[in-house]
Amino acid sequence: MDEIQISYTGHLATITINRPAKLNALTWEMVAALCDGLRTAEGSGTRVIALRGAGEHFCAGADIGVEASLNPLDYRRFVESIQEITLAIRRLPMPVIAAVDGYAVGGGAELAVACDWRLATSRCRIGFPEVTLGISVTSGVTHLLPRLIGFGRASEMLLTGRLVAAEEAQAIGLVNRVVPPDELDAAVAETAAQLARTGPLAVALQKRALAVGARSDLPTALDFETETIHTLFTTADAQEGFAAFLAKRPPRFQG
Ligand code: COA
Repeated sequence: MDEIQISYTGHLATITINRPAKLNALTWEMVAALCDGLRTAEGSGTRVIALRGAGEHFCAGADIGVEASLNPLDYRRFVESIQEITLAIRRLPMPVIAAVDGYAVGGGAELAVACDWRLATSRCRIGFPEVTLGISVTSGVTHLLPRLIGFGRASEMLLTGRLVAAEEAQAIGLVNRVVPPDELDAAVAETAAQLARTGPLAVALQKRALAVGARSDLPTALDFETETIHTLFTTADAQEGFAAFLAKRPPRFQG
């Protein structure tokens, strides 16, 4: 059975990490397949990609057995292949949502943080125990996590390896929303339905503008916003959005 699976429901593409007996720990092949899967899922009218784990857990990180067996050069390549996932998520024009049930630890938490946002269940436990293995985080976590939860909290999580449970994860902004385990799929479907009502070009350029704004000074962010909104204004989608509002009907965006 494939350890990385893709399924489609309407505008939603779901990528499932499917190795539940090992808490969906990622081998090198799975990392490459996940990267390919993200690119594959981009096509065919997909408006949102959900990333989840099979069974009761999201992902327990890189397979430690694999890591332990690598020589330093191959280990570096393995890490770089994991970083490709973050780059793939950031380059995609649609949001990638982590649907986090159970454990999201180590590379699993890295994966969740690399996503655009996170829906989680009340039994989730998220953290970065890398230092307890004598290693450190990758996937852009040193850049992304302080922006999500603040430098002090990121520092505490990364330097202690402490896992946080759902309530705390939501309180500190590590996850956007917490739902009961049996409502996670519905929460993802609800998000997909919301995104289906938006303009695909607008979402794609808004995602990029947010990323640029987050790493820029204010004048640069303002400039990029002007270019973004001006570009969008010239599209048929924007004209359709305005016309639909004025005609009091739902828009029919063509992207
Ligand atoms: N790599 C390889 N195998 C892993 C794994 C990982 N990252 N995480 C879990 N597994 C395997 C376990 O070895 C075990 O396999 P086994 O049944 O063949 O012995 C199985 O998955 C179940 O894990 P187990 O540890 O028994 O579950 P638990 O509920 O007691 O603990 C965790 C869950 C997540 C706390 C624990 O598995 C853990 O600490 N995993 C490592 C997390 C980590 O440090 N990741 C960073 C990697 S860089």
